[in-house]
Amino acid sequence: MADSDNDNDNDPEAGLVWSIKRSFVDYVTRMHDGRGNVTGGAMPTSGGQIIFSPDPKPRDCPLDADEMLAFVGDVRFTGHAGLLFVRIANPRVTLRGQRAELDIAHPYKLESTERWPLVDFEVAPQIMAGRQALVAERVSLRPEAVELFNDVYPAGELFDPIIIALGEPRTRL
Ligand code: HEM
Repeated sequence: MADSDNDNDNDPEAGLVWSIKRSFVDYVTRMHDGRGNVTGGAMPTSGGQIIFSPDPKPRDCPLDADEMLAFVGDVRFTGHAGLLFVRIANPRVTLRGQRAELDIAHPYKLESTERWPLVDFEVAPQIMAGRQALVAERVSLRPEAVELFNDVYPAGELFDPIIIALGEPRTRL
């Protein structure tokens, strides 16, 4: 598994850092034809996480939200002779207070601008390695995304924690 067109195991830069769901990745890894492919601005780390890079294009924040953080990167899991195809690409996090919803590019219509809700969570601000970050410990599957995983996980299933590394590292004087 873990093919990539990038090769970057550096410390986290600004971006959305996520291992998605370890049990799912392990399941795909166990398949004889299971593959994980990371492209388009996402980078795998040696610790099994993916770093989705900040989207350089400005994106409109929904009027009813406080902020929208957009990232680029395309992660695809395939296996079971093509029956299994899970694409998690270009995640965006919409913040309303501490509440956050993460949606992704349409997983099947690759040219579509349609978005799919994937998970939601609460964020807590933290300083990590001198960098401001938003940390989500309890990340829950949205009902709209249940079919993406073949109806195996129910709505509310816990996914792995998410770290959103923001801004520049602070330098010490
Ligand atoms: C040929 C068709 C398929 C077969 C025979 C199959 C078989 C299995 C088996 C045996 C498990 C239990 C694995 C284990 O605990 O080691 C499993 C889990 C799972 N399968 Fe499939 N599967 C198929 C298709 C799919 C497809 C199309 C998806 C779509 C994403 C999918 C998603 C999952 C998920 C999410 C789990 C749970 C992984 C976990 O978190 O433990 N499966 N499947």
